[in-house]
Amino acid sequence: MTTIEPEITIEVHLDADSAAAMARDVRLGLSAEFKELAPKYFYDDRGSRLFEQITELDEYYPTRAERGILADRSPEIVAAAGDPATLVELGSGSAAKTRHLLSAMRDAGCLSTYVPVDISEEITHDTAQCLVDEYPGLEVHGLVCDFEHHLERIPERSGSRLIAFLGGTIGNLYPDARREFLARISGLLEPGDRLLLGTDLVKERRRLEAAYDDAGGVTAEFNKNVLAVLNRELGADFDLDAFEHVARYDAEAGRMDIRLRSLAEQRVRLDDLDLEVAFDAGEEMRTEISSKFTRDGLEAIYAEAGLGLAGWFTDPAADYALSLAQRVD
Ligand SMILES: C[S@@+](CC[C@H](N)C(=O)[O-])C[C@H]1O[C@@H](n2cnc3c(N)ncnc32)[C@H](O)[C@@H]1O
Repeated sequence: MTTIEPEITIEVHLDADSAAAMARDVRLGLSAEFKELAPKYFYDDRGSRLFEQITELDEYYPTRAERGILADRSPEIVAAAGDPATLVELGSGSAAKTRHLLSAMRDAGCLSTYVPVDISEEITHDTAQCLVDEYPGLEVHGLVCDFEHHLERIPERSGSRLIAFLGGTIGNLYPDARREFLARISGLLEPGDRLLLGTDLVKERRRLEAAYDDAGGVTAEFNKNVLAVLNRELGADFDLDAFEHVARYDAEAGRMDIRLRSLAEQRVRLDDLDLEVAFDAGEEMRTEISSKFTRDGLEAIYAEAGLGLAGWFTDPAADYALSLAQRVD
């Protein structure tokens, strides 16, 4: 645990276990017949910065839509969430849009503590520092960890809480993992607490695919960054130029399917895993899914996790939704 200044505490839970978990995940993913890497490995410092650039792209409407909802309706959201004292944010990143919620909480006189939870250490430190400067009196208790495994590290509740999970990041989880994750969040909610979930909504293929394959190639660079992470963290020798970015909408599964395609037959060595992996020319490896939702679908997903819809906020074009959920026993 690091106390950087009186208002900031950051706990880092990325330890030897996390390194072993990464080694295990990557070995499993690269040894499977259909190769796959988990999207959480995009986010080293460079990956986090590239994601920030993606959020500013013309093609990437989700951030704009979510920001618009938060800018227009945060006071309403905070009131509907019962004027919470603490905002916990999973996958907080730079917390750029979160300022709207924090300002609404400050204006409602309830803001006490912000708990950013992110796998990227540097961005969590930077965000904490900016926020205590911007919100005098705010306590920041950050957690650098994997939210899929360390939710129990979130500090004890003191007053009511709003748990925010923005950016459509829930869409990166497969249905089984998503069900388990939401059930665990449901377990954290006490009476009066709420979950605020950002979800991208189903829409036409053309806009979805453009959002994940911008003309300037920033998304492609972000996608390939996972290979640079494996080169550094696991002693791999991926040639980033030997892969190309692929972004396709799978309408049946209702999700974007992001892959890297090998441009040639090649072998890659991962020294730290003592593993050699063969790629055929044209072979694709999945690096991310991003599910798209409907209101009815989300209500069913909430119900399975013991949650009930308590508020629904969309942008005028209904491209994106923020929903409030509460535990139903
Ligand atoms: C899609 S970005 C969203 C960032 C920000 N919330 C937004 O809306 O712009 C996903 C964020 O979640 C973090 N993240 C991804 N997987 C994670 C995991 N398993 N545990 C903790 N943080 C994770 C990334 O570092 C990144 O900041």
